[in-house]
Amino acid sequence: MFIHQVITIDGPAASGKSVAGQVLAEKLGYLFVSSGHFYRALAWAADRYKIDLSKSEVIARWLEQLSFQHKIIDSELHLFIDGQDVTSHLNDEVVNKLVSPLAAIPVVRNFLFTRFRSLADQYDLVMEGRDIGSVVFPEAKYKFYLDASPEVRARRRANQGIIDSVTQRDQQDSTRTTAPLVIPEGATVIDTSNLTIFQTHQAIEQMMEKIKILS
Ligand code: C5P
Repeated sequence: MFIHQVITIDGPAASGKSVAGQVLAEKLGYLFVSSGHFYRALAWAADRYKIDLSKSEVIARWLEQLSFQHKIIDSELHLFIDGQDVTSHLNDEVVNKLVSPLAAIPVVRNFLFTRFRSLADQYDLVMEGRDIGSVVFPEAKYKFYLDASPEVRARRRANQGIIDSVTQRDQQDSTRTTAPLVIPEGATVIDTSNLTIFQTHQAIEQMMEKIKILS
């Protein structure tokens, strides 16, 4: 059991988890963690080092010797691979393509599971992802699941100028055997499809209310 407070936010790509999570974390003074950034950093590195993703033992050996660190800079978590801050590469096209197949590999998930759990030994967290409330912190008291229609989510990514096939990633994330995207037991579901930015802030206020009530 971890000693710090953990709030989990899960949901498909571009459902608004990051914005909601960042605002919530700021309001509460918690550390915001996008677990997807960790998968993305590994996808970037796997491409860079030309790792054969079809061989679990090759990946396991690679992860064992990989220098993968995090640092908090101006209240934000930055990820470093072999000393290089990879933050600016996390939305590269090749990363968007590789990340879901990589995230379906059990040895990769186990590697990050341990990292995510250990963050709660050090910080109060708002962590967003796909399996945070279901697998990583199933015992968390406050769990949210954000959703939005596939059309709205594809439009959001396009408006961000990012080339990302969210439908394909969702399909891969929801159908994989290990830790698929599901609504975690006990999670409050919020549909952000028709919410303006103002309404999203209202939804965050609702989340805050829920947290207060459950405290
Ligand atoms: O949240 P984001 O879109 O950055 O996540 C990128 C990918 O990382 C997801 O599509 C998914 O394949 C993987 N992921 C995951 N489990 C998490 C977070 C992300 O499998 N908890």
